[in-house]
Amino acid sequence: MTRTLPSTDLILAVRPVFSVLPLLRLAVLGLLCGVPGAIPAPVPPAPDAVDAPALPQASTAGMAGASMRVGRPAMPPRAVERRRSHLEREPALPELPRNAARPPDERAQPVYLVMSRETYRRMPDLVRGGEPKRDTLGTELMLVETSARRVPSISERIHASERRCGGYFAFDSRAEAETFLREERSAHSKFSPFVRVRYTVDNAATVDPWLPQVAQDNIRGTIAHLSSYRNRYYAAPTGRQAAEWIRDTWLALAAGREDVSAELIACSTCSTQPSVVLTIRGSVQPDEIVVLGGHLDSIVIGGNGSLTQYAPGADDDASGIATLTEVLRIAMASGWRPRRTVKFMAYPAEEVGLRGSNAIARAHRAQNAKVVAVLQMDMTNYNAGAGVDMRLITDYSNPALQTFLLQLFDTYLAPRGMTRGYDTCGYACSDHASWTAAGYPSAYFFEAGAPNGSYFPYIHTGNDTLANMGDSAQHSAKFAQMGLAFLGEAAKTYGR
Ligand code: BES
Ligand code: ZN
Repeated sequence: MTRTLPSTDLILAVRPVFSVLPLLRLAVLGLLCGVPGAIPAPVPPAPDAVDAPALPQASTAGMAGASMRVGRPAMPPRAVERRRSHLEREPALPELPRNAARPPDERAQPVYLVMSRETYRRMPDLVRGGEPKRDTLGTELMLVETSARRVPSISERIHASERRCGGYFAFDSRAEAETFLREERSAHSKFSPFVRVRYTVDNAATVDPWLPQVAQDNIRGTIAHLSSYRNRYYAAPTGRQAAEWIRDTWLALAAGREDVSAELIACSTCSTQPSVVLTIRGSVQPDEIVVLGGHLDSIVIGGNGSLTQYAPGADDDASGIATLTEVLRIAMASGWRPRRTVKFMAYPAEEVGLRGSNAIARAHRAQNAKVVAVLQMDMTNYNAGAGVDMRLITDYSNPALQTFLLQLFDTYLAPRGMTRGYDTCGYACSDHASWTAAGYPSAYFFEAGAPNGSYFPYIHTGNDTLANMGDSAQHSAKFAQMGLAFLGEAAKTYGR
């Protein structure tokens, strides 16, 4: 199934924590992606079945209704734009309302969902006010209304009836959902890219010497450290501490480089967890930006917004951050200078609705920044054993960039005995989708999972630990090689 993408504005309006948890369940359902089951016959609607208070009837006129809670505040400008020594203390970010601790009566609040028409047909008793919509790719969608407490049942229904991930995007008001649909740019990202660039594979002189330098013990050490926080939950103090540690670690790898800066960037919808961005200024085309990113936060199913929930998130996604860290180490150790500007990003608050990456992607779009390629690293270390080494996620990403990643794989990884496959999430499952929604070319290689489609069984549990990944980072090392190939070929080398 194809669904619309979150616009950068709108995903930020997604209801937090208790209403996003059902979305998290969809990660588990994602296990069943591509295995459609029997489609039940439509059930006649039961208009009274929805327990939300009376609400305006579905109509486009409702978009401007004064009774609607409209949107969140505009994103602030990027908060920090200067290099910081790791000895300098970051000023405390302003405390934001803690979404995690919503009172129970919030569960009766209306929620507006954008879902596929197929999904809609299966839940007439759970939603009402269906309004037909299309995304910019022409996918048939429905904008519906439900109540917060119905959302988990909707996820269950999708799972039970479709036997695959279905998905939806949730908003606090119809106006926000309408804006989401209006501003979504997936087609733009796919067919008429905001930034036109021809990807070439001609920089083996840089990439080849890098590949043997990948040291899995370094990656293992970073995963061990990041999973040693009780959690990296977006609203928890440890979630912020982890971001500071990543900034300090990345900055240390670039010690002495005048062309490199690292910063924490406040995110108004990410509680106290900032983005971490390390920038290597391009020497030839500094306005063209190559991004390598992964999410730094973690969450556990049933965590209920607790700031002390146990969520080690070793694979999801300490592994992605650790992989990026090793890529950066090798590039910096070689004294490499890029032609294009490179940004390493650790996104906050991915697990509660792609909030950090949406904020960043939206900020780049607002500045008309020329982001030419984005690679996502999310879950790189679990090796299911019998399958391929990595799978290219083919939905919510850019076809030209996908082709480029496949060329990189075939040029640099296949000769080393690695194998690849394809997969889909079926929904906007990680930060690559935020860049796609903002109209930028973005793509995602995933750790693969087993041939039957099942993946890491401990995602979003206290068992997402290094110990449950063989206490090694062998699998992530392959992704570090992919990251190095991407870095050298997308950003190119100054002086060559
Ligand atoms: N790493 C997962 C996404 C994932 C899971 C990809 C399994 C491939 C296989 C990511 O951190 C995640 O959990 N995403 C959320 C979606 C987000 C919008 C809240 C999810 O999948 O529910
Ligand atoms: Zn996750």
